[in-house]
Amino acid sequence: MKNYLITGVAGFIGSHLLEALIKRGDSVFGIDNFDSFYSKATKQKNIESALTYSNFTFLECDIRDSDSLKAILKENRFDAVIHLAAKAGVRNSLKDPKSYFDVNVMGTMSLLEEMRNSNHTKLIFASSSSVYGNNTKVPFSEADSVDCPISPYAASKKSAELLCYSYHHLYNFDIYALRFFSVYGPRQRPDMGIHKFFDAFLNGTPITMYGDGTSRRDYTFIDDIIYGTIEAIDSCRGYEVINLGESKTTLLKALIDEIGTITSKEVEINSLPMQPGDVIQTNADISKARKLLGYSPKIDIQTGLKRHFEYLIAQDQ
Ligand SMILES: NC(=O)c1ccc[n+]([C@@H]2O[C@H](COP(=O)([O-])OP(=O)(O)OC[C@H]3O[C@@H](n4cnc5c(N)ncnc54)[C@H](O)[C@@H]3O)[C@@H](O)[C@H]2O)c1
Repeated sequence: MKNYLITGVAGFIGSHLLEALIKRGDSVFGIDNFDSFYSKATKQKNIESALTYSNFTFLECDIRDSDSLKAILKENRFDAVIHLAAKAGVRNSLKDPKSYFDVNVMGTMSLLEEMRNSNHTKLIFASSSSVYGNNTKVPFSEADSVDCPISPYAASKKSAELLCYSYHHLYNFDIYALRFFSVYGPRQRPDMGIHKFFDAFLNGTPITMYGDGTSRRDYTFIDDIIYGTIEAIDSCRGYEVINLGESKTTLLKALIDEIGTITSKEVEINSLPMQPGDVIQTNADISKARKLLGYSPKIDIQTGLKRHFEYLIAQDQ
């Protein structure tokens, strides 16, 4: 049985990882500040059932609060820290860039410092496919240049990766920075496309489509991401950046059509220009994840969307 600290535990990915770890018998100490990007009630619901497990401890805490981190890391021995807490969302980062750097970079810095002070040296960091910016060579490989992030969010994730490397180099931390590609499934963040499109079809409200529908994303189902993350926790040695995607791409227009087919409904689609900060395409080369983690995504987009839909229907009943 292992003991883990998860930051951002009440979020979409954090709450799934939490459930997977406590169900396999590990202990989890989870922290989250219930950031106002989306509702606190949604996040509280995300961890509601996990709170009934005796091997889960939760504390409402901000990763920038060094004194609280110091106390948590002094009073517990963690086999690894899984750092998911962040200001997420590309578009919102253009509205409030300073807070993105404050949380995603300085928050990561305060966590790394308190880990160093307490002799905790294993970290899994949630990075993002957005660091690839508008790179035209696909699929995106970890060896590609990521010097041109096109949003403050992407720049903050790249900056945090750099900090992680420094702590690996200076203090011998074992760190895997996982670049997640557009994760979806039950509890997906409300600002994300699939969540918004299902809402629109189910409520009969119009969809706003940015661009002409030819942008592409590599959508990755939450169960595949959790599998890859747990393999990363179990095998983390040295410093590695690793893509976790599905490795196939879906056109935006095709995604909306598929959701229409699954819900058997039609909606009005209003087209607006591409938003600043949005990338044209994402597509993961996952050969490194296959090799290092035995990662092999199982859920294709049609199956994943159906599961997402079944979850929404069950919530409604
Ligand atoms: N969902 C995706 O498709 C995706 C893609 C790439 C990277 N990521 C990264 O994965 C991680 C999890 O993403 P998610 O989709 O679950 O987002 P999320 O917003 O649902 O979860 C993040 C959690 O972090 C918490 N948080 C924010 N600021 C905090 C702070 N200062 N102190 C403590 N907690 C704080 C939030 O309250 C939230 O519960 C994030 O780091 C995100 O950038 C997600």
